[in-house]
Amino acid sequence: MSDVRVAVMEDLADLMLLEASFPEAQRWSESSWREELMGPRQQVLVCDGRPGLEAAATFSVSGNVVDLHRIVTSAPAQRRGLARRLVGAGIVWAREMGANRMLLEVEATNAPALSLYGSVCFHRISERRDYYGPGAHAVVLEREIPAAGMATVGEGEPT
Ligand SMILES: CC(C)(COP(=O)(O)OP(=O)(O)OC[C@H]1O[C@@H](n2cnc3c(N)ncnc32)[C@H](O)[C@@H]1OP(=O)(O)O)[C@@H](O)C(=O)NCCC(=O)NCCS
Repeated sequence: MSDVRVAVMEDLADLMLLEASFPEAQRWSESSWREELMGPRQQVLVCDGRPGLEAAATFSVSGNVVDLHRIVTSAPAQRRGLARRLVGAGIVWAREMGANRMLLEVEATNAPALSLYGSVCFHRISERRDYYGPGAHAVVLEREIPAAGMATVGEGEPT
């Protein structure tokens, strides 16, 4: 199984190919991914495929909170545990950055993503109505980042 590594600017084109996994209206632009790759408080993690990338996730830190901005696995590579590994690696990074919470928004109808997040200990804290457009609500999920030595589900799986 592919290792998790930190993305570099040369991954930009392959990150854009992964965007095809999202409905057109929800796809990120190249400049959005470029900002993630360049941001001083961001971390983009990827899993290599042959060729290209199989999966990616991007996180940003602000104070003691890390936001999971986006996570995606290419259709042929789904259900192989890649997204769970990326979340686990993101949690390790979050702790290194001094965070104690991870937050994210996800569309309320995105069953695969809700199942993924539930499997790695996120719980619902609120809802943002019409966040993705009229009638497309987001749920806000959170999980704790336990102190070092107190690893929980979804964290630090072998990379
Ligand atoms: C959501 C997504 C990132 C999951 O990626 P993945 O690499 O297939 O997920 P994993 O293989 O790590 O799955 C981990 C767990 O998540 C849950 N899960 C993942 N995909 C699922 C699906 N299609 N249906 C139900 N549960 C699912 C399961 O609990 C799974 O564990 P299991 O396989 O042991 O049962 C992927 O479906 C995707 O890229 N979707 C399109 C983009 C998207 O919606 N991203 C999230 C919002 S930013």
